[in-house]
Amino acid sequence: MPPQETPLDVEGVHKIMEGFYAFQFLSAAVKFDLFSLLQRPLTRDQIMTELRIAEQPARILLLGCVSLGLIHKRGEHYQCSDAAAMTLSRDSPWDQRSLVRFSHEIAYRAMWWFHDSLCQNTNVGLCEMAGAAPTLYGRLAANPEIERTFHEMMMTVTKIVAKRFVDAVDLSAGGRLLDIGGGSGTNAVALARRWPRLAIEVLDLPSVVVSAARAAREAGLENRIHTIGADCFAVDFPDCEHLLLAHFLEIWSPEQIKSLLNKAHRALPSGGHIYLINLLQHDDETGPTTAAIVSAYFLTLASGVGMAYTWKEYEAWLGAAGFEPLSRTSLTPAHGLIVGRRR
Ligand SMILES: C[S@@+](CC[C@H](N)C(=O)[O-])C[C@H]1O[C@@H](n2cnc3c(N)ncnc32)[C@H](O)[C@@H]1O
Repeated sequence: MPPQETPLDVEGVHKIMEGFYAFQFLSAAVKFDLFSLLQRPLTRDQIMTELRIAEQPARILLLGCVSLGLIHKRGEHYQCSDAAAMTLSRDSPWDQRSLVRFSHEIAYRAMWWFHDSLCQNTNVGLCEMAGAAPTLYGRLAANPEIERTFHEMMMTVTKIVAKRFVDAVDLSAGGRLLDIGGGSGTNAVALARRWPRLAIEVLDLPSVVVSAARAAREAGLENRIHTIGADCFAVDFPDCEHLLLAHFLEIWSPEQIKSLLNKAHRALPSGGHIYLINLLQHDDETGPTTAAIVSAYFLTLASGVGMAYTWKEYEAWLGAAGFEPLSRTSLTPAHGLIVGRRR
């Protein structure tokens, strides 16, 4: 992996200082669905009417969005930039508005507690979520609307990563694949479509596997995708030929990861494959930026113990649990796939 230390000028420092304002322009515009509206050029008066806001707020919103490059102003008309149209509008196949909703509804207030979380080495930001469970995931079960926002965000991320993942592996021989922390079944559906001889079991918390079962039904794959509602730390893993841990291990501490890999080892036969998809940081701990800064979310909110670990840490943990690390594949600039084979 190439090192990615970005030399920063003073303007760059100010961009970071102002970042929380910039995000709120993005978030407010997404709430208004402004980027879908501005697929065609509109005047400020027309936008005010559509958004039902007064003139001065409309000026402020449009000024910020134009100066940030989210919207172009040509004469009296405003129109969405190409990048915003691609990532932030309803009609785009690359619509990522769910990531903005997640950041606003779930992560934003919690991240105020980052410094306290660093000092106390735990997820102090979880105080922003109702409930008593020690992780965000435990609390989501009691907050159905927030849980939906979380899983919509996860489906958006996973769809992008899964497209590359299912083509990077060869599962043509079929067999049983166990997807631990499989969420709403996005990977399971993508895998089952790509590899028709595969049978998949999605294990996740009981409130979550309901969505995975629904996704399987909607895809007409209910005969090949089954679900297990359980806490993965409280049960042994059922026997399988392949095992997937996607966007999951980075939630946990090194000790918890080692115990999950030991369970995976017991569930797989000799020669069985394990697939780890993670946010990964470079082995020399210099980036990439997305993986680096999202680590703060795992400490402050998600679990209080996880982060984006390096490729070589996962390979060492695989080796210690009895797997031979076979390959590294970048799936996005921040996400990667590590394949291991059980010895
Ligand atoms: C970041 S999401 C990843 C979902 C899915 N693997 C994907 O790639 O889209 C993490 C998942 O872990 C699940 N999870 C968290 N704690 C868990 C536990 N103790 N046992 C089982 N699943 C858990 C959450 O419910 C959530 O669906």
